[in-house]
Amino acid sequence: MSLPKDNKDSVSEPVKGLEGIVAADTTLSSVNGEKGILRYCGYNIDDLAFSSTFEETICLLYDNELPNQERLDEMTRKVGEARVLPDEVIKVITELVGKTSPMSTLRTVVSVLGHYEKNVPLKELPPKALRLVGQISTAVAIIHRLREKLPIIKADPTKGHSEDFLRMLHGKDPSDIQINALNLYLILLADHGFNASTFSARVTAGTLANLHSAITSAVGTLSGPLHGGANEKAMDMIIEVGKKKKASAYIQNAFDSKQKIMGFGHRVYKVDDARKPHLKKMAKQLWEEKGNMELFEVAEEIEKQVKDRKQIITNVDFYSAPLLYGLDIPKDLFTPLFAMSRIAGWTAHVLEQYRNNRLIRPRARYVGPIDRTFRPIEQR
Ligand code: SDX
Repeated sequence: MSLPKDNKDSVSEPVKGLEGIVAADTTLSSVNGEKGILRYCGYNIDDLAFSSTFEETICLLYDNELPNQERLDEMTRKVGEARVLPDEVIKVITELVGKTSPMSTLRTVVSVLGHYEKNVPLKELPPKALRLVGQISTAVAIIHRLREKLPIIKADPTKGHSEDFLRMLHGKDPSDIQINALNLYLILLADHGFNASTFSARVTAGTLANLHSAITSAVGTLSGPLHGGANEKAMDMIIEVGKKKKASAYIQNAFDSKQKIMGFGHRVYKVDDARKPHLKKMAKQLWEEKGNMELFEVAEEIEKQVKDRKQIITNVDFYSAPLLYGLDIPKDLFTPLFAMSRIAGWTAHVLEQYRNNRLIRPRARYVGPIDRTFRPIEQR
């Protein structure tokens, strides 16, 4: 685009979507898009996925090191004790359920929870951030229970995060494979570099706005279908296709009509998303336990039909969908579940931003008319 010739504001050409722009250093996670490798604080998620707990990942992101048993027990207890919401917040949820989406309700809950927290100095922030990690899961469970007109199930702080959430959501004790499946999901989605929602949290924290303001920004950002909202849309697609033999025509039509296929493509990965194989494996195990492979096989066929037509990567949201659906999670809770995991990364990034802050303020290239003559309104 040619600039107005007398544009004094000589800035460089913008990079659409900030693709490839490195905005800051972090020690929290590294995403190798060329090789499809994701590491948290240097540990490959392949080693964490089936051999650790979400609470260990929280310790890793907060302490920059995997915990010993004593630290893990302390973290499990603290997160358990944090799975409590003030009664006033439950009243807000009661008011909103049925009128707004669960994700909009969750965004409001985070904002309201900020009113029950004092602004504290940096060194007292980790316990405050941890409270939010615990509270998010309880909020998601209560949103569901209240809209289904079911009694609220109080948290049991002696249980692990995944087990207790499923118990609060469904009102019954989950099986071991269900606990393992949610645990895997929460580990794998906990952090992922400067994705849009994490970056929005850091931009907000960069002004020294408080933690809850930063996390409210993140929740709003995650809700978009190009980001965290894709998992629900991917499940809609799998259900709509319904049969393996219908996948080819569905995908062909999607490509012909230039639709974005939910669960595919990524700004960073040039090969399949590092998290995909683990999510796919666990989703398959869940559906095998249910004794009904039809929807899982439809998902596999959709993936095949996409890749037969276009070299486009399968991202985290595609197999997250049948995994969460296999846990009997309602589709419109899929993105809130994403937030339940990513709250660990978001809060860790906000703490990292505060520790070495500089206001995040990029430039814009002005391409409009320059030096226009003002005319009083009676002359316009
Ligand atoms: C997440 O950033 C993160 O790390 C995010 C995340 C995390 O953990 O935080 O990994 C989680 O958000 C995963 C992404 C979930 N979103 C979706 O599944 C929505 C569908 N995907 C697309 O909208 C898209 O792939 C994005 C938004 C994810 C990435 O978009 P880009 O990098 O801007 O890529 P693009 O839209 O410019 O597409 C490049 C090309 C285009 O083809 P051409 O016009 O050049 O021929 O690839 C095509 C696009 O048409 N393409 C797709 C596609 N994604 C890209 N075509 C069909 N379906 C798709 N999904």
